[in-house]
Amino acid sequence: MTTPRLTVIGTGYLGATHAICMAVLGFEVLGVDVDEQKIARLAAGEVPFFEPGLPELLTKALESGRLRFTTSFAEAAEFGDVHFICVGTPQQKGSHAADMTYVDASVTALARHLTRKALVVGKSTVPVGTAARLTALVKEIAPAADEVELAWNPEFLREGFAVEDTMKPDRLVFGVASGWAEERLRAAFEPVLAQGVPVKVTDLATAELVKVAANSFLATKISYINAMAEVCEATGADVSDLAEALAFDTRIGGRFLRPGLGFGGGCLPKDIRAFMARAEELGVGQAVGFLREIDGINQRRRARTVDLVTELAGGDVAGKKVAALGAAFKPDSDDIRDAPALDVAGTLHRMGAEVTVFDPAAMENAKRVHPELAYGESALDAARDADVVVLLTEWTEFRAIDPAAMAAVVAGKSIVDGRHALDPAAWRAAGWEYRALGRP
Ligand code: UDX
Repeated sequence: MTTPRLTVIGTGYLGATHAICMAVLGFEVLGVDVDEQKIARLAAGEVPFFEPGLPELLTKALESGRLRFTTSFAEAAEFGDVHFICVGTPQQKGSHAADMTYVDASVTALARHLTRKALVVGKSTVPVGTAARLTALVKEIAPAADEVELAWNPEFLREGFAVEDTMKPDRLVFGVASGWAEERLRAAFEPVLAQGVPVKVTDLATAELVKVAANSFLATKISYINAMAEVCEATGADVSDLAEALAFDTRIGGRFLRPGLGFGGGCLPKDIRAFMARAEELGVGQAVGFLREIDGINQRRRARTVDLVTELAGGDVAGKKVAALGAAFKPDSDDIRDAPALDVAGTLHRMGAEVTVFDPAAMENAKRVHPELAYGESALDAARDADVVVLLTEWTEFRAIDPAAMAAVVAGKSIVDGRHALDPAAWRAAGWEYRALGRP
């Protein structure tokens, strides 16, 4: 098996991580992007987003001489044996469907220069049927059409664990149309497979579906426990205890069963919507109609958090000072895409509250998108003179806040724990009125 040379097209979150990790694992890698600035920053050793462990690996990869970057698709086609497509598929404006502009543009740009045998591997999350469509596209425009094949290798990495998930994923999925493509993929993941990582080989459509099916399942699990939280709220039951009790059943398990403000980020919300849109097109919309409910439950958690803050503010937040702890969609990330935290903070601001936000990593991003909000230097600084404090992202440093120290700076000792991250007994003992979603 000859070791293939890899290109990674699209150096955003997914692509940059893949390119860096593959170079560290010993492959010759060329990172490709149309964004000259991004390429320049990466080539200079700077990771343009927050991901623990990745900056050190970028330095290592660049020093090894195995990782380079370019904006030239001609160079990429000349260099690579296996080309990974890692560009984004955001939600289309005004629709739930995925925007395929970047996938189509990058495959087209690459295919024009493919003059020899190559495997083009999609990693982006796409509507099922995309690989078949791209195969036809490549056959039409690649000079070496007969020697170019498409494969699909969905990516399951989580932000904050991107390196770990790339180096040692739970599983690899290879969607292929031939034995040759499978052999090339095995070669392109040889060091990963050598660690005993299981691989599931499927056809192209199944591989595309695995990704959206997995994300839909995870979203369903979160909304399931949050639906139970709604019931708990109506009965005085405690959803945290309920979740713990459910988790003992090994068939259910405790992961992704954390109740609270619900899911956000660049994947789960858009992926379930795109899946519904694609299922509609395929005439099987009814089969995944429940995802509309999953989305609805998730949105209601945000509204309920706003309600709890309003209650603690005495029925109206207008003119009240609210400290919002957290902006990122989850801890250990600076990503604010569809962040429940900023959604809640923005709504409270629109309702007339003076909202001061603090987040350990996402401040720059939050300020850019929400210039109307105020920002603190620290959690304590954001809480100064606040009437209500609301915890929206469960950063470790927020869990460690001393309730007595925060009590000394606020105007009203009222806290809404949107992520079940705090110890209610400790906060109540320090004189706080503590409220949480789905908890008495
Ligand atoms: C997700 C998938 O986990 C990953 O496999 C896929 O490749 C991309 O989408 P990510 O978006 O990085 O990864 O975040 P994840 O850790 O899955 O969390 C998603 C959201 O769900 C966050 O907003 C998080 O706060 C929320 N969540 C997660 C809960 O509300 N409760 C839980 O129990 C788990």
